[in-house]
This record gives sequence, structure tokens and C-alpha cells, in this order.
Amino acid sequence: MRFDIITLFPEIFSGYLTQSLLNKAIEASLVEIFVHDLRKWSTDLKHHKIDDRPFGGGPGMLICVEPVVRCVEDVQKMSPLEGIVVLLTPQGQRLDQPLVEQLSSHSRYLVLCGRYEGFDQRVLDILNPMELSIGDYVLNGGEVAAMVLVDATIRMIPGVLGDEQSSVDDSFSRGNRILEFPQYTRPREFRGLAVPEVLLNGNHEAIAAWRATESLRRTAERRSDLLPPAQSQ
Ligand code: ADE
Repeated sequence: MRFDIITLFPEIFSGYLTQSLLNKAIEASLVEIFVHDLRKWSTDLKHHKIDDRPFGGGPGMLICVEPVVRCVEDVQKMSPLEGIVVLLTPQGQRLDQPLVEQLSSHSRYLVLCGRYEGFDQRVLDILNPMELSIGDYVLNGGEVAAMVLVDATIRMIPGVLGDEQSSVDDSFSRGNRILEFPQYTRPREFRGLAVPEVLLNGNHEAIAAWRATESLRRTAERRSDLLPPAQSQ
């Protein structure tokens, strides 16, 4: 899977890209990530400005249409595989696990990170991007949202998680709508808090039953909206 991330702040991604899981996925050629500095497509050769004041007035600055459209056209040509253009914005469709799973079936994305007051409307009219939001709050830009998108999506690629880890059991994976049960490791007791006895006796049926009950209890307590109506009271 290939991501081409288009941003005004490429350096934000450098720490994330060297993070171990992602780095391993890149080294194993399961994931490719290219970060492109939008300023390189500025029409202002002197100051590399890419934003301007909105017509009609109003606060803040907008990212201009020309550099974005030219950048996306050039970046598309960098691989023969046509990329789906994604624009991260609080106005987009909310990203959730079913959508992440759907997205993981395509092999290339061009990810546009917004800043300031957003983009000139003609960016949307011309590129017709898939607009995605990571939640109902406003970030200072799309970069953090882009990392969320990449992070959640690459976990779905076979081989990215080691054998010891699996996305199948994740809370929201493959139609799962239940939270995870509590887990414990050594020591058996800390500050008077003991590991539940059932986990120590090797009875796998009893352990599975306890975990199922705890998952359900947790979900009912914290996220009753995930349960079918009959189970949520
Ligand atoms: N940019 C600013 N806020 C955002 C959000 N909530 N989701 C995606 N991109 C954003």
C-alpha cells in the first residue's frame, strides 16, 4: 500500500515514519510512504507562498487552488497506480473501523492535509477528493489526522502486525462492536490488587467465558451505544 502525503509541514511526519511497526512494514515493502512539501508547487518562486486571503473577507487564510491541483497531478504521475485522493477535514465523513477496513482494500492514497481556514472550494470541485474527518473536533491541521488514517489502515494489511499480534480481535474489527476485556501480567498481586483467580488456573473454557462477560460488562458501562438495544440496559 502506498501513501503520498501532501502537507505544508513535512517534518511533522519524520518521527512517526521511524516508529518501529511502521518502519518494519516499510522495510518489508508492505507499505510505502512519501511525504511531499506543498510549498514546492507554489507559484510564488520567491517566498513559496501557497495561501491567500478569502474573497469577500473573513478571518484567516485559504490554501490556493493552483499549487494543490498541480501538486496532486504531479504526484499522481509518480506511480502508475492511480491513487484515491483523500482530504482530511472536520467536514468529512467520520472515519471508523468499517471504513478503515474498506479503505485497506485499495493500494494507493494521496492524502491532502489542510491548514489555516482550509482550501479554496475549487480544490474540491476539481479533485473531488474523499473528505474524511477523524472526529468531531477541530485540529490545527490535517497532519495528525493523516497519521491516524495511515496507522489504522496499515494494521489491516496482512503481515504488518507480527504473528503475536492480530487485528482480528480488535474491539471494532470485522464487525466486532465490543470492547476488550481487562488483561493482566506479572506480578500476581500489586498494592493489594490481585489478578482474577480464573486467569491463573489454566481452564481455558472458564477463561473464555470470564473474558466474554467482562467485555460485555465494559461495553455496557462505557459504550452502551455499541450494543444491540436488548443488551444495552
Ligand atoms: N483537520 C482539522 N480537524 C480535523 C479533523 N477532525 N479530522 C480530519 N482533519 C482535520
